[in-house]
Parts: sequence; C-alpha cells; structure tokens
Amino acid sequence: MFDAPNTKIKNIDIAIVGFGNVGRSLAKLIVYKRQVLEDKFNLRINVKAIFDSKGAVVKEEGFSNYELLKLTEIPRSKISEFENGLRGASLKEIYDKIKPNIHVELTPSNYIDGEPSTSNILTALNLDCNVVTATKSPLVLHYDEIFSLTKKKGLKVKFRGTVMGGTPFIDLLMSLKSYEIIKVEGILNATTNFILSTMYEKLISYEQALAEAKAIGVAEADPSIDIKGIDAAAKLIIIGRLLGKRISLDKVERDDISKLTLNDIINSIKENRVIKYIATIDESSASVKLRSLEKSDPLANINGTTNAVRIVTDSGDLFFVGKGGGGMETAHSVLDDIISIGVSS
Ligand SMILES: NC(=O)c1ccc[n+]([C@@H]2O[C@H](COP(=O)([O-])OP(=O)(O)OC[C@H]3O[C@@H](n4cnc5c(N)ncnc54)[C@H](OP(=O)(O)O)[C@@H]3O)[C@@H](O)[C@H]2O)c1
Repeated sequence: MFDAPNTKIKNIDIAIVGFGNVGRSLAKLIVYKRQVLEDKFNLRINVKAIFDSKGAVVKEEGFSNYELLKLTEIPRSKISEFENGLRGASLKEIYDKIKPNIHVELTPSNYIDGEPSTSNILTALNLDCNVVTATKSPLVLHYDEIFSLTKKKGLKVKFRGTVMGGTPFIDLLMSLKSYEIIKVEGILNATTNFILSTMYEKLISYEQALAEAKAIGVAEADPSIDIKGIDAAAKLIIIGRLLGKRISLDKVERDDISKLTLNDIINSIKENRVIKYIATIDESSASVKLRSLEKSDPLANINGTTNAVRIVTDSGDLFFVGKGGGGMETAHSVLDDIISIGVSS
C-alpha cells in the first residue's frame, strides 16, 4: 500500500548567488537537512539556480541531492561548465524564468561601491523575491534603499549570517524589546582575535602571527579588511541599524592592529592585562580599537577564532559567546533565515 502524498509540503524555490565557502556549505546543508525540513517544517527547499562570478547553472525543477553534491565539487568559477550551465546570463533573465521565492546573496563584501551584491539584491526585490544575505556591504552602504524597497514590495530581507556568522546574535539582539541597550561591545572579527591570541600564546610578532593565520586559512591573502577594522566596523554598522542608529563607515574610528608590537604584548602581560581588538557602539560613537583589558574581563579570555559580545543594558550585562564564522556555521544561519521566511510566507 502507498502512503497518501503529504499535501501540506510547501515548496520554497531558491537561487544561490555566490558559490564559494558559504554557498557550497549551504548546498551540502540543504541536502543533509532535506528530510528534517520536510518532517519538521513541511518545507521542501528547491535550489533552482546557482551563480558564481563567471556564470550560472539552472534547473527549473530544482537540483537533486546528487546534483547539488556534485556541484559542490566543481572548481571555483566553473559552475557554468556543469550541464545546463550558462556563461554570462543575467540574474534578471534567469529569475524571469525560474521565479525563485528567495534570493540568497553570498558574494564577497565590497566596501567601495557595494557591488555586485547591492544590485543583485535590488534586482531580486524588484522581481518580488525575498532576500537572505550573509554579504554585509549592501547593508552597510545601501540599507535605506534596500529596506524601503523591501517595505514597498511587502517582502523580507534577512541577514543573520552577517554578524557572528555562526551564532544567532542578531536574533537575540532583536528579541530584546523591553531593555534599554546602552552599549554593545565585543570581539567581532575572528582573524584579528586569532592573531592577538597567537601573539600572547607564542610570544611572537604581529607579522609571525599573521603568517600563521594565513598558513591555516584563518587570514585571507590580503587581510586588510580585517586588520584595519573594516569588517568589525561593518558589523557595528549593522548592529547600529538594529538599535535605530545610522552610522557610516567613515564615522567608525578604527585602529590598525598591524601597529601592535611584541613589546606591547609583553608590557601588558607584566601589568596583568590583555590587549584585545574591541568593537564598540554606544549612544554617541562607534569604534574598533585596541584596548587593554583587565584579565578578569570576560572579553579578555576569548581566544582564537571565537567571537564574543557584551550587551550593556538597563537590566545588567548580557554576554554572548560563539563562532564568528566558518562556511558551515554561516550556512546554518543562512538556512535558518530561509526556513523562517519559508514558514512565514
Ligand atoms: N566565510 C565565512 O565564514 C563568512 C561568515 C559570515 C559572512 N560571510 C560573508 O558571506 C559572503 C560569502 O563568503 P564566502 O566565504 O563564501 O566567500 P568566497 O568563498 O570568496 O565566495 C564568494 C563567491 O561569490 C562569487 N562571486 C564573486 N563575484 C560574483 C558575481 N559578480 N556574481 C556571482 N557570484 C560572484 C565567487 O565566484 P567564483 O567562485 O567564480 O570566484 C564565489 O563563488 C561574503 O560576503 C562574506 O563576507 C562569510
């Protein structure tokens, strides 16, 4: 005897734009969680298109588990070489055909002009598609434009993966409705915290610690976005928006951690203190600064690639520790956003 088909299953069609570390982890996670999503939420997530910087691959009925896993094995920039691949096709042409419910933006953050992610998101919204993004720059540079279009269209834009990528910090912050939030401060960049922790642990110079971070893939070949505090400042700007504050990147005071010497580290040890790279936002300012903390401060004890945030409120301090990022960790945040749009649409 056959089971009656489950008529309650809701199909959510998505397109993944950016198929690097996070995009590939998301494709795998959708495969691993497919059954759970159907059983628990009655959701079937169909990936109908995937884009990299050179092209796209499209399947109107959605890729099978096998095809998704095969796609994650294709070398970077070669997605359009898969069967039905399209080189150079535009987002609009493809979306006109597949009409996804959710556009998932996972291209690199670009703090010069916010592209290609800002145009991708605006195009998707104009085509009546909800958005989930882990890419920070469109929110940092074009928040008002994106959210006024989102409101006008009655759509949703979700961005849990943009701050503490692997930890649901944004949801926690947004849930604090009855608190007055006086200050948010913390360690928001995994690369620089790893460099500082390694300088303390091994008593080596900034340059040596950076080389170690690069060797194990914690730092990019060009780490300037991290070491100049731009990544942490971008996260502060997003946190600021959630607190109702509008801050531009040039208004966030930033230290460059490359100025830190081994002598600074040794002197702080002698004084029983720890230097940390702390991002802070309060009523009047936002900054990403090297700060000398008492050893007893919980932030002084956060090491390696772990992130931590202290939310200072009128009802005391809340302390939040978790993974800053990582492909699979961030993919979980992205998938949670997809599920939350799926269940509420
Ligand atoms: N990795 C993390 O732990 C983490 C955590 C939180 C947030 N994020 C954010 O999530 C986003 C993705 O991170 P990632 O680590 O996956 O980056 P990544 O590994 O560098 O992958 C970026 C992807 O975007 C593609 N791409 C670049 N330009 C494009 C364009 N014009 N159109 C379509 N695709 C384009 C790249 O194509 P090619 O394959 O052709 O190069 C690549 O597939 C970034 O904005 C990052 O800041 C990452």
